[in-house]
Amino acid sequence: MRSFVVSAAAAALSGLLMLDSSALASSAEIAIHGAGGNKPSSFWGAYDSLFANAKYVDLTHTITPDMPIWRGFGNLTFSPSVNKLNGEEFAYDKDGFVATAYKLTTDQMGTQLDAPAHFNPYFAASDEIPATFALRKLVVIDMSAQAAKNSSYALSVDDILDWENTYGRIPKRSVVFVRSDWSKTWPYVNTDVFPQVSLEAVQFLHLQRDILFHGHEPLDTDMTPNFDAEAWLLKHGYAQAEGVTNLHLVPPTGCLLSTGFPKFIGGVGNYVRYVAICQPSWAYGVAPGATPEAPLPQYSAPLLWNDAKGHRSRD
Ligand SMILES: *[C@@H]1O[C@H](CO)[C@@H](O)[C@H](O)[C@H]1NC(C)=O
Ligand SMILES: *[C@@H]1O[C@H](CO)[C@@H](O)[C@H](O)[C@H]1NC(C)=O
Repeated sequence: MRSFVVSAAAAALSGLLMLDSSALASSAEIAIHGAGGNKPSSFWGAYDSLFANAKYVDLTHTITPDMPIWRGFGNLTFSPSVNKLNGEEFAYDKDGFVATAYKLTTDQMGTQLDAPAHFNPYFAASDEIPATFALRKLVVIDMSAQAAKNSSYALSVDDILDWENTYGRIPKRSVVFVRSDWSKTWPYVNTDVFPQVSLEAVQFLHLQRDILFHGHEPLDTDMTPNFDAEAWLLKHGYAQAEGVTNLHLVPPTGCLLSTGFPKFIGGVGNYVRYVAICQPSWAYGVAPGATPEAPLPQYSAPLLWNDAKGHRSRD
């Protein structure tokens, strides 16, 4: 999973670098940019000064076969991949490698990015969400105190205005995550009664503040019989994040959000890796190079298929 973060960040950066190198097409640009990587106009300099020592906080649940899921969807199944040529499971000793088969009952589970086509076939599917979603400013609105008193509390426009009184106006095209601490007991969570985001709140964030998308910890936006907030968002072409976690490890302002998402053709939900990128002085998260990255760490116990658990495990 770690390699997914790295490749998502690399994809985000290579996207930026592609823009930069296409700019090099004109000779005037070449004169401005020069050959060095550290000129102010190059993102490599920005990487060195901003990102190389930043703290990366994972906001993503691990996907497991028994993870909490909306009551209408079946469980996931993991199994060792089988070689169709001889009907045998791939093995390190015989084949040199192993592989995993996943039986997915839905693209709506775990930490996700809902594509609007989930509710409206005329809006974007998973593979139609633009690459520009990869990197944004991250706002975290904390309603955990309200949710502690009322387990179905719904974020209100007043809560958003209170946040702005303290921290300033929500930046345009940013991502707004709503902290409720619902996910702190994951996987032991209540998927039927949960802290909500009201229809008025999501309308305010999109129509008055022009955000890119909002996200929340539970697997649904609201508990109304017709999914009022979720339906309004998706039917109007807005994406949303669900199943986000670790928001207690991210400050209200100042971090960026990296979104790494696969491209299933015609998909309507995305398994996603969200990573907050925060200032080097931030108390949580990990800095590049602080743990082994290349090569990645070696473990004392091998990863072996575990039938009882239904996935590979080191114990
Ligand atoms: C699905 O997973 C849940 C949680 O592990 C388990 O309680 C339930 O029995 C499973 N259902 C089926 C049909 O396997
Ligand atoms: C909890 O919050 C919900 C959503 O705002 C509201 O409908 C309900 O009345 C609240 N419950 C209590 C006991 O305040």
